[in-house]
Amino acid sequence: MEKKFKRTLVTSALPYANGPVHIGHLAGVYVPADIYVRYLRLKGEDVLFIGGSDEHGVPVTIRAKKEGITPQDVVDRYHKIIKESFEGFGISFDVYSRTTSDTHRELASDFFKKLYDEGKFLQMESEQYYDEGEQQFLTDRNIRGECPRCHAPEAYGDQCEKCGATLSPDELINPYNADSGNVLVKRKTSHWYLPLDHYQPWLEEWILNEHKEWRGNVYGQCKSWLDAGLKPRAVTRDLNWGIPVPVEGAEGKVLYVWFDAPIGYISNTKELLPDTWETWWKSNDTRLVHFIGKDNIVFHCIVFPSMLKAHGDYVLPDNVPSNEFLNLEDDKISTSRNWAVWLNEYLVDFPGKQDVLRYVLTANAPETKDNNFTWKDFQARNNNELVAVYGNFVNRALVLTKKYFGGKVPACGSLNDYDKGIIDEFMGVKEQVEQLLDRFKFREAQKEAMNLARIGNRYLAETEPWKIAKSDLDRVATILNLSLQLVANLSIAFEPFLPFSSKKLREMLQYDNFKWDNLGRIDLLPEGHTLGEVALLFEKIEDDAIQAQLDRLARIKKENEAAAYKANPIRKECSFDDFLKLDMRVGTVLECAKVPKADKLLQFKIDDGISTRTILSGIAKHFKPEELVGKQVCFIANLPPRTMRGIVSEGMILSAEDNEGNLSLLTVEPAAKPGSEIK
Ligand code: 2FM
Ligand code: ZN
Repeated sequence: MEKKFKRTLVTSALPYANGPVHIGHLAGVYVPADIYVRYLRLKGEDVLFIGGSDEHGVPVTIRAKKEGITPQDVVDRYHKIIKESFEGFGISFDVYSRTTSDTHRELASDFFKKLYDEGKFLQMESEQYYDEGEQQFLTDRNIRGECPRCHAPEAYGDQCEKCGATLSPDELINPYNADSGNVLVKRKTSHWYLPLDHYQPWLEEWILNEHKEWRGNVYGQCKSWLDAGLKPRAVTRDLNWGIPVPVEGAEGKVLYVWFDAPIGYISNTKELLPDTWETWWKSNDTRLVHFIGKDNIVFHCIVFPSMLKAHGDYVLPDNVPSNEFLNLEDDKISTSRNWAVWLNEYLVDFPGKQDVLRYVLTANAPETKDNNFTWKDFQARNNNELVAVYGNFVNRALVLTKKYFGGKVPACGSLNDYDKGIIDEFMGVKEQVEQLLDRFKFREAQKEAMNLARIGNRYLAETEPWKIAKSDLDRVATILNLSLQLVANLSIAFEPFLPFSSKKLREMLQYDNFKWDNLGRIDLLPEGHTLGEVALLFEKIEDDAIQAQLDRLARIKKENEAAAYKANPIRKECSFDDFLKLDMRVGTVLECAKVPKADKLLQFKIDDGISTRTILSGIAKHFKPEELVGKQVCFIANLPPRTMRGIVSEGMILSAEDNEGNLSLLTVEPAAKPGSEIK
C-alpha cells in the first residue's frame, strides 16, 4: 500500500435481502474481502470492513406479493438468514447493518436532497407503462411480454431469461403486468436523473488514466461504457417500497435502489461509529476499496463515483476488485431455479467445515474468468490437499512431539544444509504472499500458503524422524523443533484464508501472540513450551456426503426441466395464411466464419439456389464455423434485411433449442437442392 494512506475502508456489495446467499456470493465477494481485511488486520493496519443487506428494490416487492406478506417481512427474514450465514463463515464485518435502518434512510435522503438543492439533477418527463386497474406505474422487472428476439412468451422488461437478451420494456410484444396480468398503457411521469454524461470527461481521466492498475475485467468494462458514451440515469422510481424522494410533489416516488444502496456503505459506517465515521469517509488519507461481483461494476466505478463527486465531501474508491461468476456443476447459479449451494444449508450439512468451502472457493476463485464449482473437486481438494498435506503435516509434527518429548517443544540442535534449505524456502514466502494479497490475487496467495504446508510435509517425509528415535534423539528434537516452527508459521499464513482452522491450530500449539510480521521466523515457539491437546485439523469427506449433494442437484434439475416445459407452452394459434407468408428454404453453407469483435455472431454465405446470400446468426457459442461448411441448413428467405455490425443479413437460419439453451441446427435428410422450399 502506498504511504499516502493511513487507513483502509473495505466494503463488500450489499446483497439483496430477497433470498439467502449462496456460494457464488461467497466466492465472488465475501471471502476475498474477508481474506484481505484479515490480512490487513494481521499486519496491524487501521482497517474497517463494512457490510449490510440491500433491502429495497422491486424483487423484494414481488416476493412479498407472491407470499402475501409485507416487503418489510421479506427483508426481516432474509436479513437475518444472510447475516447468520456470513457469521457462520467467519466473514469478519465490523458492522453488518441494513438499508431499512433509520440512519440509512436519513443519510440517503439527505444525500439526495443536497444534490437536488444544488441543482445536480435533471428533471425529465417520460412515458412509462402504467396499470390502470392497479393504478400504478410498473418497473421493468414487473412487466412481462413476448420477447422480440426469441419470442418466448414471458420475457421480463429488462431481460429475457430464455435467450439472455437485455431488453427494455418498450421492446416487449404485448406487454402486461406480471402480477395482475392487466394490459398496460403508457402514461407520463416525471423523474430525476443524474447526468452521467456531465461526469464523462472526469471519469475518463480518473479511471482510464489514473487507475490503469484496476483489474483487466473492471478497467475493460469501464472503458466500454465510456466509449459508448454515458447518458443521464434516472435515480428515482414510481414505487411504494423504498426511501421516499424528499422533495415536494414527489409523492409515490422513491429513490432508485441503486441510488440508495451504495450510500449504505456510508450509513453503516455511521451506525458503527457515530462520532468518527467522517474520518473514514471524508479524509484523503483513507483508502476506499469496494469488493463486488462483475454485474456491479458499472454502479461502483461509474454511477456511485459520479454521485460521490457530485456530493463533493466523500472519498472515491481507490480500487474495485471485482470477480467474474462462479458456476455450479457447469451450470449458471440461479436463485430462481434453486441452482445453488445455499450457505445456510451448507452450514447444516457440513458442520465445522466452513474452512473447507472457503478453501475450495478461493482455490477456484473466478478472479479472471468465470469458474466452476463441483462437489467432486470440493471432496478432492479437502481429501488430497487439506487433509493429506496441511492436516497431515500438522498432525505428524504434534503427535511425534507428544510421543518423544511429552508434548513440549524440544531443543533445536545444529541445523544441517537440508534444514537450512527448507528454512530458505520458507523465508521467501512472506514477501510472496504479501505481494499477491496486495494485488488482490487471492487464489495464488492461498496456493503459496499451501506450498508452505507442502514443504513442511515433505520435510517430515524425507527426514523420517520416527526411524531414528532410538539412535539419535537429538536429531529428532531438531527436526521436530523446526517442524513445529513451520506449523506455527502456517497458523499465521493461513489465518486470512482459513480462520477457523488457524484458531484451532493455535489452540493446539498454545500460541496466541501472532502477527503477520512473524511469518518466516523459526523462533516462534520457545524450547520447553507446552503444546495443547492434539486434534485433527481436517477430516476426510466421504463419498456418501458428496453423493447426497449430487442427488439433491439432480432432483432440482429434474424439477426445473418439468417447470420449463410448463412455462413454455405452445403459442396461440397462427392462421394458415400467416404461416404461408413465411418463405422457408434449404441452402448449402459455402462459407462460415466468426464476425470479428462479436462473440455471438456467425456470418454464413449460403447457396440459396439462385445466388449466394449472406446471413448472420447469433449462434457462435454453439458451433465451430468450419464444421458447418458444406452442411445444408433451413432458413427464412423473406425477412426484411437487417444490418448488424455493418453487415447486411438476408434471412434467418433455423435451429431448435431445448430448455437448457442447447442448440441443434435444422437440416434436411436426404440432401435437397439449394433453394428447395420447406412446406
Ligand atoms: O447486486 C446486488 O446484489 C446488489 N444488491 C448490490 C448492491 S451493492 C451496494 F451498492 F450496495
Ligand atoms: Zn428471448
